[in-house]
Amino acid sequence: MNRLQKISFASKIVFSMSLVCLSCAKYKSTSIDPGILIQPQKTEEISLQKNMPFPMGAAVNVSLLKSNTNYRNLVIKEFNSLTAENAMKFASVHPSKDTYTWSDADYLVDFAVANGKRVHGHTLNWYKSLPDWVNNFQGTTAEWENLLKTHIQTVVGHFKGKVVSWDVVNEAINDDGTIRNSIWVQKLGVDYIGRAFQYAHEADPNALLFYNDYGHEFGPTKRTAILNLVTGLKNKGIPIDGIGIQMHTRVTQTDANLTAAISTAAATGLKIHISEIDMALNPDNVQSMTYTTTLGEQQAGKYKTIVQAYNAIPKSQQFGITQWNVTDADSWIPSNYSRPDWPLPFDAQYQRKAAYQGILDGVK
Ligand code: G3I
Repeated sequence: MNRLQKISFASKIVFSMSLVCLSCAKYKSTSIDPGILIQPQKTEEISLQKNMPFPMGAAVNVSLLKSNTNYRNLVIKEFNSLTAENAMKFASVHPSKDTYTWSDADYLVDFAVANGKRVHGHTLNWYKSLPDWVNNFQGTTAEWENLLKTHIQTVVGHFKGKVVSWDVVNEAINDDGTIRNSIWVQKLGVDYIGRAFQYAHEADPNALLFYNDYGHEFGPTKRTAILNLVTGLKNKGIPIDGIGIQMHTRVTQTDANLTAAISTAAATGLKIHISEIDMALNPDNVQSMTYTTTLGEQQAGKYKTIVQAYNAIPKSQQFGITQWNVTDADSWIPSNYSRPDWPLPFDAQYQRKAAYQGILDGVK
């Protein structure tokens, strides 16, 4: 071994000796509280479903679930409750009088079961998403009643034991607090609402049944009408279990309105599902608007306010919070209003936004 080799060999010995001493030093200083040696939770271990004290859901698009790996993986990681954005609507499952098409809805339910997630059914009765054969149906009152009952009981029966809850009636109240003059009211009268709940309950007595609507946070007018409707149903012994507060809201909405929407609904004693939350940052349709850090922080603050108010209601009434769609890229808002907007806690690149942290901060 020449001189250089001897020096290098010796330095390796010294280096490894120092390593041994260092490791001894670490263990020797038992005075260090072992707690501070615990690694902080790595960001990849944090998720909405793990870190929130109530179910966290998303309304999912079945074609994206099938075709988009990033979308699918985000849904698997973050949420423990799924709502069908469109796959269980009347037009989707019952396209003609004697035909039911279950494939997309079954795919969603199978995906949820395979991934240990709850499924919330949306929606058995609505004035929208009706197939032409219903809008053009010519029948007696009895035939309309049979149409309503048969649809509800066929759909609830098909998913019995797999779909744990339903939006039985969706958006039956106008923004001014009056009953929406839908085809259902025209053909069957306003009491069809109670009968819809009874039909659903008969088909699956174990399913939790919700009345779902938007605008609770607009102010007292619509909110009071909704709460009067649901308490009326409850007092008549109609099998209603909960209220779906859609919460399609905006960053400019006041904290007072947001919190009142939740607290007044909870005062009914029914379960509360924030069923379709998203938060527009561009409600005035400014075509040149861009997403900024400031906007993101404002959005985070409002999400935090909503979650804090929700977390304050009795635990037994916390059915969960569901966001409508998964990321800003698949949100219904930009396309529906033809404007740039960023309403959800995940951006178009499937990354967590400040709003995500705002949600987590709401339960700290
Ligand atoms: O599937 C058809 C397709 O075959 C056809 O080529 C295409 C063009 O017309 O339409 C497709 O159906 C569309 C459907 O979404 C599926 O993409 C309907 O036109 C379209 O109206 C429908 O919009 C949905 C809307 O409800 C009405 O059902 C939105 O995606 C959905 O996000 C929105 O969700 C509602 C909730 O159900 C209730 N609360 C409000 C919320 C937002 O409006």
